[in-house]
Amino acid sequence: MKKTWWKEAVVYQIYPKSFQDSNGDGIGDLQGILRRLDYIQSLGATVIWLNPIYASPQVDNGYDISDYQAINPAFGTLDDFKQLLDGAHRRGIRVIMDMVLNHTSDKHRWFQESRKSKDNPYRDFYIWRPARDGKEPNNWGNYFYEDRGSAWEWDEATQEYYLHNYSKKMPDLNWDCPSMRQEIYKMLRWWCDLGIDGFRLDAINRLQKPQGLPDSPRPCAPPVNPYGYIVDREMCANQPGIHELLKELNREVFSRYDIMTVGETGNLTSIKALPYVSESSREINMVFHFEIAKNPHLVTPAEYKDIQKRWADVIRQGGWGTQYLTNHDSPRQISRFGDDGELRVPSGKMLAMLTHTQPGTVYVYQGEEIGMINVDFPSIDYYDERYTLGKYQSMVEQGADPKAALDSLKMMSRDNVRTPMQWNDGKNAGFSEADPWLHVNPTYRAINVRAAEQDPDSILYTYRRLISLRKRHPVMVYGDYVPVMEAYENVVAYTREYGDEKWFMLFNFQKETQQVVFPPWLHPESAGLIMGNYPAPNDPSVLQPYEGRIYRLR
Ligand code: NOJ
Repeated sequence: MKKTWWKEAVVYQIYPKSFQDSNGDGIGDLQGILRRLDYIQSLGATVIWLNPIYASPQVDNGYDISDYQAINPAFGTLDDFKQLLDGAHRRGIRVIMDMVLNHTSDKHRWFQESRKSKDNPYRDFYIWRPARDGKEPNNWGNYFYEDRGSAWEWDEATQEYYLHNYSKKMPDLNWDCPSMRQEIYKMLRWWCDLGIDGFRLDAINRLQKPQGLPDSPRPCAPPVNPYGYIVDREMCANQPGIHELLKELNREVFSRYDIMTVGETGNLTSIKALPYVSESSREINMVFHFEIAKNPHLVTPAEYKDIQKRWADVIRQGGWGTQYLTNHDSPRQISRFGDDGELRVPSGKMLAMLTHTQPGTVYVYQGEEIGMINVDFPSIDYYDERYTLGKYQSMVEQGADPKAALDSLKMMSRDNVRTPMQWNDGKNAGFSEADPWLHVNPTYRAINVRAAEQDPDSILYTYRRLISLRKRHPVMVYGDYVPVMEAYENVVAYTREYGDEKWFMLFNFQKETQQVVFPPWLHPESAGLIMGNYPAPNDPSVLQPYEGRIYRLR
């Protein structure tokens, strides 16, 4: 397997709005991040991924870009960005940008032009259609459940609808338009020439829309909103033509620089993944699949193992992968997959050990390294993000009890992970002097960076050790992955082998203690225990709640 820096990387994801405020306006900013670079370096991360920092009306916290080449003034200036890039590079940390190519803001100059007239040179940059029988061109619903639900918005000026899979303030770009594509490539090269180190590509498998924009044929399976529009995310995912587009992007931009690319790909299982990420395809390096962290159903340990195995195969066949259990769109990993009560610390450490020892590039989302947990906001007024608000409103309109509606949305709300970073137990958790744009999670008094730094037994130290181990032992990155002891439903166990080294990882993915029998070739009692989240056991066959161990067999 070819060695590359991005396979070895540990990426620290920063949600700029919530990381560190430096100018006292309650909103995180670039100078704030700059101040915290030493902390990120102390963690050992080698890459930073910044969620969108571009000029944007902030309808979707920056995923609605109004100018790709300007910085959101609330975050700072281009000069601040250059300082940040420089500061990161001086510490040996690379920086990747979140790039949104599926849609822009409706305030983007291209869209402002596009909507002016049918013969405007920018008309084709977006997807316009006439009405069908006096109604929307098809039955698609927008993913945010907004404005009665359609994915189409009527525009009076030119008497046509435009497509918006997300908010109506985020019109979809038309990737069938060659001049639009050229503008995008130019802009991407501009960022690369500035010295950035790669892109996280938002909704990248949705760029190509299906030929003819047909109705969704799945009227029952996906949630139907009260107005009959169908939120069917399959419709625009992995459509014929998508690979040609990505190859062109690669040819025109990615291949010309030493950068990494990671695509966000909802509705993509391992079965269709290889063409996106195989080295020979020349498209992108790796994808974030949604099978675990963004699965609407809580995956069981047995399902988890199956998913990991399938994605490890993608790597074995010449692709590459990602390991993450949380990001800015999914719940806090301890609340979802571990225990955010009494067992917060052991379960947080176990999840970290799992992520860092399986094949793929590792992603750590801000606050994960100190074991932050979901927030329990008392009412809908505390929430900010569009998905929770849209879904709540649509449920209440359908007659749901407001409290029951809120309770059902709490676990998956994206605001769980967007509350300010918890730096200390002081005012606003050390995030800002002013009232933060989103309420701080009240758990900050106990869960914060300062407290974690002072406790060598904290989750933070586990992350530091894991990242440093990964840097010193290529087996963690390149080692062949073989699941073992598969009959135990709630035990996750595998070996990794690389050159002379062979490691064995063992996890009790449940709250209960568990007794196991090791296969005859495995002798943990005589193997070296590299790391564990409990003291070394007297009897290795007894696993504590959420216990994790990393052994070196040779
Ligand atoms: C995926 C992003 O991660 C999410 O935050 C955003 O709302 C949508 N794409 C739309 O850009």
